[in-house]
Amino acid sequence: MTAIQDPSRTAAKTQSRSSSASDWTPTSWRGRPALQMPVYTDTAALAHAETRLRRYPPLVFAGEARKLKTALGKVANGEAFLLQGGDCAESFVDFSANNIRDTFRVLLQMAVVLTYGAGVPVVKLGRMAGQFAKPRSSNVEKLNGVELPSYRGDNVNGFEFTPEARKPDPERMVQAYNQSAATLNLLRAFAQGGYADLHEVNRWNLDFVRNSPASAKYQDLAARLDETLNFMAACGLTSATTPQIAETDFFTSHEALLLPYEEALTRVDSTSGDWYDCSAHMLWIGDRTRQPDGAHVEFLRGVRNPLGFKAGPSLSIDDTLRLIETLNPANEAGRIVMIVRMGAANVAEKLPPLVRAVKRSGYSVVWSCDPMHGNTENASNGRKTRHFNNILSEVKDFFAVHRAEGTHPGGVHFEMTGQEVTECIGGSTDITVENLNERYETQCDPRLNASQALELAFLLAEQLKAERLSVQRAQPAA
Ligand code: PEP
Ligand code: CO
Repeated sequence: MTAIQDPSRTAAKTQSRSSSASDWTPTSWRGRPALQMPVYTDTAALAHAETRLRRYPPLVFAGEARKLKTALGKVANGEAFLLQGGDCAESFVDFSANNIRDTFRVLLQMAVVLTYGAGVPVVKLGRMAGQFAKPRSSNVEKLNGVELPSYRGDNVNGFEFTPEARKPDPERMVQAYNQSAATLNLLRAFAQGGYADLHEVNRWNLDFVRNSPASAKYQDLAARLDETLNFMAACGLTSATTPQIAETDFFTSHEALLLPYEEALTRVDSTSGDWYDCSAHMLWIGDRTRQPDGAHVEFLRGVRNPLGFKAGPSLSIDDTLRLIETLNPANEAGRIVMIVRMGAANVAEKLPPLVRAVKRSGYSVVWSCDPMHGNTENASNGRKTRHFNNILSEVKDFFAVHRAEGTHPGGVHFEMTGQEVTECIGGSTDITVENLNERYETQCDPRLNASQALELAFLLAEQLKAERLSVQRAQPAA
């Protein structure tokens, strides 16, 4: 669908462009208000960590970021679907090969459910290999009458409730870099080295998921996929002849919150001469740091990676358009992902005006649904949780809005893990408030466990199938 440029926005667009591009440098964010950033008291230690990071190799390459942008351009045009997921916060203590493998394989399972179940290509994007820094609603945390600085993610300070742990330590950025490098190394091996071969689909099923209702559906799908692969092999299409069967593209992303870290990993690409933030393929701006004149927007507008920004209930139409114009003046498809996180109670009312305004502006965006961050609440036992039903409800309403507006529901953004944690309430394995304490392992927000994530993937596949049918019905016969 071609949208019509709203002439009333053209002036604002010209204005924001003329005050932009040429005056950007990797450090120009330092002249802007930077929210949610730690104060490092040891400036020599900070400079030492930054200097080393600037010398270290890039974690990702510009060509890969461009490949992701092209794939996201297809999503923006309604030809593919974005699956973005992983931890709320990666942690130093939970760092292990098994953890990485389990999260990766649940994402693969979800992707196969969507690709095979709904017949759409899926862009796989992990909240992994760099998702360490966390914005907080309060600068301090109180426990038993003691007040300490809030935990801000393992690349800033420690989770332990002691004054020593909570002091921001710049050396943590170096440890986060090293953990990200090792994580990426394993992810690349899994994605390209045979583990992601579609013939392995049955083996991706985790043992504990086998007993869940979603598992029966998954096994049925795996059997049908096997038949299809046998048929394709008979036609001469095998893993050996068709690389798409044997391997997959897997990209990484995180919230670009800790700007000294992002700046130190920002490099000029020798092929194009453009700047890229080489800490991840895609970076997003959180709901608390998306001020159009703020440091985070200033930093990200100058790098050429695909970008996201969170759209929570307080985001105005004006700010939405300013953000899009500032971050994507050339209107490249695949550059911007709007990650909508309104909450189940708000999305049906708050999303349509945004969709209409963006459509009128003529700018291309990927519309993605984060059904997690608007649905966080405190359970009766004090645990931070999310109800599976609210998550489902936000996803369904998100799809319904796009159906009504004639736009493409482009993707989803989840906090999930491959472990059998008990952090979100509900789902077919029926986790209750009483179960929350059994395996509550997150250092930040409650995540979907593997069974809940798989269940959600089947629901998404149904929604996507319905969308595809309604688009086909709307197209005039040739
Ligand atoms: C997050 O994605 O972990 C997060 C903090 O989200 P938001 O900025 O939408 O609150
Ligand atoms: Co979170």
